[in-house]
Amino acid sequence: MASRHRTDVLIIGSGAAGLAAALHLAETTRVTVVSKDAVSGGATNWAQGGVAAVTNPDDSFEAHIADTVAAGSGLCNPEVVRFTVTRAPAAIEHVVSLGLEFDRQGEALHLTREGGHSHRRVLHVADATGAAIARTLSQRAVEHPNIDIMSGRVAIDIMTGRKLGELPNRVVGAYVYDNQTNAVEVFEARFVVLATGGASKVYVYTSNPDGATGDGIAMAWRAGCRVANMEFNQFHPTCLYHPEAARQPGKGTFLISEAVRGEGGQLLLADGSRFMERFDPRGELASRDIVARAIDHEMKRLGAQCVYLDISHKRSDFIETHFPTILSRCLGLGIDMRREPIPVVPAAHYTCGGVVVDLASRTDIPALYAVGETAYTGLHGANRLASNSLLECLVFAQAAARDIARRLRIEGHTPSTPPDWDESRVSDSDEQVVLAHNWTELRRFMWDYVGIVRTNKRLERAQRRIDLLRQEIHDYYARHRLSADLIELRNLVHVAELIVRSAAMRKESRGLHYTLDYPRGAANPTPSILYPAADPLDVIQPLAAPPRRARRNAANTAAS
Ligand code: FAD
Ligand code: SIN
Repeated sequence: MASRHRTDVLIIGSGAAGLAAALHLAETTRVTVVSKDAVSGGATNWAQGGVAAVTNPDDSFEAHIADTVAAGSGLCNPEVVRFTVTRAPAAIEHVVSLGLEFDRQGEALHLTREGGHSHRRVLHVADATGAAIARTLSQRAVEHPNIDIMSGRVAIDIMTGRKLGELPNRVVGAYVYDNQTNAVEVFEARFVVLATGGASKVYVYTSNPDGATGDGIAMAWRAGCRVANMEFNQFHPTCLYHPEAARQPGKGTFLISEAVRGEGGQLLLADGSRFMERFDPRGELASRDIVARAIDHEMKRLGAQCVYLDISHKRSDFIETHFPTILSRCLGLGIDMRREPIPVVPAAHYTCGGVVVDLASRTDIPALYAVGETAYTGLHGANRLASNSLLECLVFAQAAARDIARRLRIEGHTPSTPPDWDESRVSDSDEQVVLAHNWTELRRFMWDYVGIVRTNKRLERAQRRIDLLRQEIHDYYARHRLSADLIELRNLVHVAELIVRSAAMRKESRGLHYTLDYPRGAANPTPSILYPAADPLDVIQPLAAPPRRARRNAANTAAS
């Protein structure tokens, strides 16, 4: 008999979004947090630059709003931008009240600068802001009597009333794979919050940690939620290029924070010449899409392996104080950024699209919420402004928690119970190599065909390969006992398809989506929203098209 857990609120993911939501909710209710990594894992732990918020009298909400909207290239939702920006100072106060100490210069907060920001407005903890946030939130969460944290667990799918044949539809829990015991557990929950981060691992070169496989987006899609703007993958312009540390397939590429450019770092070609002014009058501080495309262009034009980021004209003690993490990582590879430029390349960094939510982080399925990089709120539009992501996590985590707490007070509903997971008809994985091969193939063709510069032909090529892989992975999933790799691969292929289909829908170039076939922007751009109910991609669900050879039993079929 599978192990079962019952909780009022199940939060999937323990990054900034998941833990902030848990801490808000824990003031009034018990919550369970499951996470596939260690409690402070996820992209949050890797964040460098900081959190954008207006805290300086010289700055203003209107300026932060204008910068966000400008970066978003006409696709930000103005109401959401205002909602987020005006709540930023309170979100900062909340993390400070939990014990986070941002860097100061004398009494005042030290504010750094990043591309696309018209003011110094980024609060930070040296160049390891995410680690400080992760540490603070996880310490408070671990010690909180109302929060149960269960790590080493990979959520497979959300269970809904619809999948159990019940109406009205609502979330009733989730199936979760325990990495230690290899068993699938059932979590019954009145509310579920998806806080599983982004999907940048769909690309072979990424700044993201291993877990960024778009699980929440894929789960929500399979459960029947709308997903939007998946074509807008942000490529960070400056990730470390080094034969031993960078661009190794399967490994996260170490980021060289945009704050290095914010503090005066210059981008150079191998001959020492600057090039950014040729692409944008803001030079190195143009928005990320422009800088990443410029680097890509120069690398292709010159057949170069990388470009260089130089801050060696700054005093050594300035570099040591502001960028200790980057300095130490580079020194470990024999690069002394105090004296020489750092070799850099672009890499996949951030998923601007995601599960469509409203201002209370509610998805299309009652009682299912999505927060953080998993969600599409409308804040980022076609390109996220630097350091607006951690901010979005904190602001929308609180919004979700408020809404759930309110509904817990007024709703007495006990949801139906998902059936046990049944593995009686599946066998042990016989060809692990299939998984490894498909992982690599998928991520490589996504990089080659759906990367910084796209064309119709490249998208068609990618779609053809996805069709083959999806079927193969689907069959494998239906016949074999689960593993974390298989769960993630299944999610990656679904997310890859969402990206390619969204990209194919956009007949223009805008923000992070650049295609040689439509180099100009269209007159009235709209978000690209995929609707699962009437959507052909929906047939990838075993529920809709179970493989004939090895039909899982009703529980598994319903779960997938
Ligand atoms: P994450 O922090 O990624 O957490 C996701 C959580 O979900 C993890 O706990 C993971 O284990 C769990 N999870 C995933 N799938 C499952 C599953 N199936 N079952 C169970 N658990 C699951 N943004 C900024 O605003 N400022 C910055 O300076 C900045 N710097 C960055 C630097 C780097 C190198 C990177 C990679 C990103 C950076 N970003 C920055 C982006 C920002 O860090 C992320 O967007 C943000 O931290 C996402 O938080 P999250 O809580 O949504 O997800
Ligand atoms: C960075 O430090 O360059 C990352 C900032 C971000 O992704 O917002």
